[in-house]
Amino acid sequence: MELVLEKVNKLKGNISVPGDKSISHRSLILGSIAQGETQIHNFLNSLDCLKTLECMRALGVEIKSGSNNYIKIKGKGLYGLQEPKDILDVGNSGTTIRLLTGLLSGQNFYSVLDGDNSIRKRPMKRVVQPLRLMGANIWGRENGRFVPLSIKGSKLNHLHYTLPVASAQVKSALLLAGLYATGETVIKEPLPTRDHTERMLEIMQAGIKISPPEIKIKSGKELKGTEIFIPGDISSAAYFIVAASVLKGSQIIINQVGINPTRIGIIGILNKMGAKIDILNYQIKSNESQADLRIEYSELKGVEIKEEMVPFLIDELPLIAVVATQAQGKTVVSGAKELRVKETDRIKATVNELKKMGADIEEREDGFVVKGPSKLQGAVCESYNDHRIAMSLAVAGLLAEGKTIIKNSECIDISFPGFEKTLQKLINS
Ligand code: S3P
Repeated sequence: MELVLEKVNKLKGNISVPGDKSISHRSLILGSIAQGETQIHNFLNSLDCLKTLECMRALGVEIKSGSNNYIKIKGKGLYGLQEPKDILDVGNSGTTIRLLTGLLSGQNFYSVLDGDNSIRKRPMKRVVQPLRLMGANIWGRENGRFVPLSIKGSKLNHLHYTLPVASAQVKSALLLAGLYATGETVIKEPLPTRDHTERMLEIMQAGIKISPPEIKIKSGKELKGTEIFIPGDISSAAYFIVAASVLKGSQIIINQVGINPTRIGIIGILNKMGAKIDILNYQIKSNESQADLRIEYSELKGVEIKEEMVPFLIDELPLIAVVATQAQGKTVVSGAKELRVKETDRIKATVNELKKMGADIEEREDGFVVKGPSKLQGAVCESYNDHRIAMSLAVAGLLAEGKTIIKNSECIDISFPGFEKTLQKLINS
């Protein structure tokens, strides 16, 4: 499929974006191993989250999918999962494979995890190695560096571990394994990362203690099923926040977006660049904060983003490159080499495609430098089958003279089914 974009004048109107992807994955996994029922509202019915749903069903969990993105899970308790009859296919989803590797290590059965071509290139040693320290039996290509992974569940020992990379997926995998380990597992983060797992474990009454930079989890305590209200995904909202900030005369409202402090790096950075973003109708639901966001066009200036900020806006960095092309001066992103091991090498992909559109952007080993402002021109762009690259380039396409074509744009459904329709609504309002 191809997504075709033309230059637009401004964006106007009021939209909602689909539910948060990270929280949707976690609600399925934790709801499955909780006792009793878990009801999920505003679940993200995207390809990635549906892979987690299928995996949990293959592990014997009864999950009903209703209308309006409602999901009901009949929790099995910590020890109720069953050996899957087939390979568990995670598709394109890094969150599914990392979290399930942790969960499956502590079960009393055998399982195999595999995924698509992108997943087969992504690093797994970061989860496999600490799990092996807990006594997990995991095999994979190149001694566990790559999938397919096969796991013979076993009794796990507790672990005291400092994460070598700031990764919420690795942290979450170890917390899940910690639920099955002897005694207390302590995980220390080098930098704070998204904390949705910890927040959900809290409301499910797990034996969790959060004292940054450490998280402690005690095993053996059953989780309690609960009702979870998922906010709109700030990583999906980000495309419209940026587009409205750079298109003259724009003013939009995005309803009830998650504004967890570990996810709002994009708002902080845009504010620093001079954006006008108001936070309205703030509320806390299911231990997560959410609010309406009102965004208006504003003149922007370049900004510097360093390593400690990166986890708070990791998925928005390709989009930061796009906004930087419209800002006055230099934008420098460093300490972001993790981008190279995402769904694709996002540094290379961003630099290659924005260059085609006329941006002044330079690749660095751990980031990029953009000099702005520049006039973008429409081009035929690759998505690299990466949803975030495709949507970031779509925003660039709204700014460029002429036509922009994004190839293989079906990957957008990984995280944001309905992206094009939502964008049209803001263009036509
Ligand atoms: C995610 C964590 C991040 C992020 C990914 C989702 C999660 O990955 O990039 O899109 O849900 O935990 P890392 O943990 O690899 O940084």
